[in-house]
Amino acid sequence: MSGERLSDRLSVSRSAVWKHMVRLKKEGYEIRTAPRKGYLLTGIPDSLLVREISEGLGGTLFEGAKIIIHRETASTNRSARDLALRGYPEGTIVLAERQDEGKGRKGRIWLSPEGKGIYLSLILRPPVTPGELPRMAVLTAVAAAEALEEDLSTPSVTIKWPNDLLLDGRKIGGILLESHAELDLVDFLVVGLGINISMTDGDFPPELHGRATSLLLSTGRTCPRLPVIRTFLSLFDRYYRQVLSGDFTAVRDRWTAFAGISGKRITVGSAGRPVTGVALGLDDSGILVLRQDSGESRRVYSGDLISVSSGKDTP
Ligand code: BTN
Repeated sequence: MSGERLSDRLSVSRSAVWKHMVRLKKEGYEIRTAPRKGYLLTGIPDSLLVREISEGLGGTLFEGAKIIIHRETASTNRSARDLALRGYPEGTIVLAERQDEGKGRKGRIWLSPEGKGIYLSLILRPPVTPGELPRMAVLTAVAAAEALEEDLSTPSVTIKWPNDLLLDGRKIGGILLESHAELDLVDFLVVGLGINISMTDGDFPPELHGRATSLLLSTGRTCPRLPVIRTFLSLFDRYYRQVLSGDFTAVRDRWTAFAGISGKRITVGSAGRPVTGVALGLDDSGILVLRQDSGESRRVYSGDLISVSSGKDTP
């Protein structure tokens, strides 16, 4: 667009337009300038910028949301929790370029090198009981898996119970839900999502080689974070509303397809002891139900999937 048209449209002087262009270029926007033709935007930076994150979120629960971006923080989940305790509203988004003490499930560490991953936490205040929270984890996993698939444009993502995101059988992302609740009412919920975007083998410790991956490692191409973040947020909004309106079935069906364990004999490590049985699927609260050899059904709240038999058992 020509400088003249821009200055007309924005009601600022031509030199103000030029100054803005200089500033945008400093922020990493690629702008080509041609005499008499004007300016051409050829690329946007992959830095986390509020105006880029909020683009396209109109009409969602994140419209007009507070977006907090840390260059560096201990953990976005911890930061979101502190903000929620100070009264920050539902829909608040916390992101970081890097986390120094990224938290994984079960007290594990979540590797969070600068600029190489998505480290995102959301503050939610859903009108649900603590018993309904596993549904939130299920919908988060589905939104994240679909956001990754949309970016990859291949259906190669799977969910490993409870909600690890795998690509080519290797872990590419994880979800950590932390809630603040009374006995029968959730005060707030922090949904934390970590996705490995451009880590290389050298970024992972030796014990994770072959077990963890990133979009870059799996696809061989540089992948920007912004499209994945935006798609995740809009899918999250859709499924969150759907589930809160009482329809959990659609999300559960999507989870079941991504997880691929229904009807299979699996072993999970739960509360220290392994439990084996045929996976019957998620119940109405989002909890995994196993049929044990004794014929008894058992609900497994959390843990790690240890093994899945290759054959299909008849439930
Ligand atoms: C897992 O162990 O699989 C869960 C990993 C969750 C990591 C994310 S990164 C953003 C948010 N902040 C944290 O400290 N953890 C979560």
